Amino acid sequence: APGLGDLAKKAGLKYFGTAVDNVVLDNEKYTSIAFNYSEFNQITPANGQKWMYIEPSRNVFNYTLGDQIVDPSKDAGQLRRCHNFLWHNQLPDWLSHGNWTKTALLSVLENHIKHEADYYWGDCYAWDVVNEAFNDDGTLRQDIWLQTIGPEYIEHAFRFARKYTSPGTKLYYNDYGIERVNNKSVAIQQMVKDFGKRGVPIDGVGLQAHFTVGRSPSYTEIRASQQLYTGLGLETALTELDVRIELPDNANKTAAQATVYAESVRACVDEKRCVGVTVWDFWDPVSWVPDTFPGWGDACLWDEGFVRKPAYYAVADML
Ligand code: XIL
Repeated sequence: APGLGDLAKKAGLKYFGTAVDNVVLDNEKYTSIAFNYSEFNQITPANGQKWMYIEPSRNVFNYTLGDQIVDPSKDAGQLRRCHNFLWHNQLPDWLSHGNWTKTALLSVLENHIKHEADYYWGDCYAWDVVNEAFNDDGTLRQDIWLQTIGPEYIEHAFRFARKYTSPGTKLYYNDYGIERVNNKSVAIQQMVKDFGKRGVPIDGVGLQAHFTVGRSPSYTEIRASQQLYTGLGLETALTELDVRIELPDNANKTAAQATVYAESVRACVDEKRCVGVTVWDFWDPVSWVPDTFPGWGDACLWDEGFVRKPAYYAVADML
């Protein structure tokens, strides 16, 4: 049977992909699915390219965890969405506990992007340049970047990314909670408009799509939120799709989950400029959901026994 990657290409997407974390790379059953091109023709490192691992001490770079994912995915011929250059989470202590001036932190940012972009030269279809910079009300998150540099840290990151990544790399802004038209998704649209006027490079907006059974946006809402950006000429992608269930799971919830997955994938397929869908892992035991949202889980397409769930078949039907 064709896999989700095969089906996605037939449906006009560039890819159907998954996040992969380093902690399961010794599980052969897992890796035989993760690095199977037919099932997934795109990979996102779930953690391996984040700042705390890549630059654990100032100007000391260690690509081990990134390479553990990037190398086998290159062997498999998969695309990569590289994740990420700038975020407020998973920063090394030397950075988050440092006492920085604006100039010093900007040079730390430039140096980080320069080294990581150069190391992964030609390896990334896209880079998530800035991750989760906005609050739900549309204001900017009060983090070390905003407090030290000011709101212009975002455009600096994009300019550095364009300067140091290989030609053609798609530069993305990536966030959650923007899968409806709301204060946050509209604030990001304003940023994109402003970037357009002033020549700040940006190619795409990633809708993370961490959804919850019973409260997820509809097909129509996901279409409308993408159009905030596609209408400005950008591409979109669903970058971290998962659909969590309040435990214990049951057949009704599993069926509802399948519908949410299917509508979400359909909302990308039907959007001309939506390039692909990435699930934030495909196997329940390694999902980030149970740790982050106690009482919730079973958010992935494969269950703990590596059996495909109804959601898998619902997605396949949409492609
Ligand atoms: C998560 C990883 O899956 C976890 O293993 C890690 O402990 C925390 O980060 N939004 C993002 C991702 O952009 O980087 C996050 O990944 C999930 C939320």
